Amino acid sequence: MSFSLKSYLEQKRFVVDRALRQVFKDGSDCPKALWGSMKYSLFAGGKRLRPVLCLASAEAVGLPQKEALRIACALELIHTYSLIHDDLPALDNDDYRRGRKTNHKVFGEAMAILAGDGLLTYAFEWVSNPAGYGAKYHKKLPQAVHELGHYAGYPGMVGGQVDDVLAERQKPTLSKVLSIHRRKTGALLLSSVRLPAVLAGVPRPKLKAMTDFGWAAGLAFQVVDDILNETGDSKALGKKAGSDRERGKMTYPSAIGLEKSKREVARFTQKAVAALKPFGVKARPLAELANYMAGRTN
Ligand code: FPP
Ligand code: MG
Repeated sequence: MSFSLKSYLEQKRFVVDRALRQVFKDGSDCPKALWGSMKYSLFAGGKRLRPVLCLASAEAVGLPQKEALRIACALELIHTYSLIHDDLPALDNDDYRRGRKTNHKVFGEAMAILAGDGLLTYAFEWVSNPAGYGAKYHKKLPQAVHELGHYAGYPGMVGGQVDDVLAERQKPTLSKVLSIHRRKTGALLLSSVRLPAVLAGVPRPKLKAMTDFGWAAGLAFQVVDDILNETGDSKALGKKAGSDRERGKMTYPSAIGLEKSKREVARFTQKAVAALKPFGVKARPLAELANYMAGRTN
């Protein structure tokens, strides 16, 4: 059976963007400056990878797309908040993101901090609203929301970001960098594929299989990010290349070298795809996405 990832991505991105516009339809209750700052970063041309992974997972576990869309949007809101805060002078101090000026460069630091806060809280308001789900999913919704908080919070992304900051200029070790990557980037990517499975109420072995996929694919994604920072060019990346080395960041290439890092990407990706076996052909888009993430250039 033929499958075009290009048209799959186009179609799903369209659906996600339409849903995100729906989330940001009415800003009448929101201070104008905040609304503008949040929208600037949310509609800045991100790849929508987390929402697309979420919809692909929904397909694999048999969750109707409309039931997964709130989760998909919440993931992108959280991802966008994390990038705005990551770029701040107190963290990575970056001037460019996705080829455009970073949020604080346009709106100032105060509004960038608040836009991040606003996106993060709005994500939970949006995703937890039972009115957005069919009645049969209400029972599982609290667990899905709970997990989102877990993987985005200190056990996941925020904790990983803390370790990433503290590890700057430290001697890189594989175990340390693995732990940073799993939490800083891997946890939110894992939640992107796990939450639809939780909401659908899949049996335990399938939840485990999806979890194995999520960890392996998420890790591969961040190692590719490290490799691209080292070898890519700023124009294609839309942000500054070579910045990890400059800042003494702990990365896979700094811990085990570039060639070994590339081999690890291939190994993690194979592991990810193998984990999808219990889902059969319905997981084809997820498998293709994992391969795409391993080969991406931006
Ligand atoms: C690029 O994603 C993003 C990452 C590799 C994630 C890095 C993780 C952080 C910056 C964590 C920050 C956390 C806090 C709490 C500040 P992408 O390639 O999908 O980006 P795109 O959306 O631009 O396509
Ligand atoms: Mg950073």
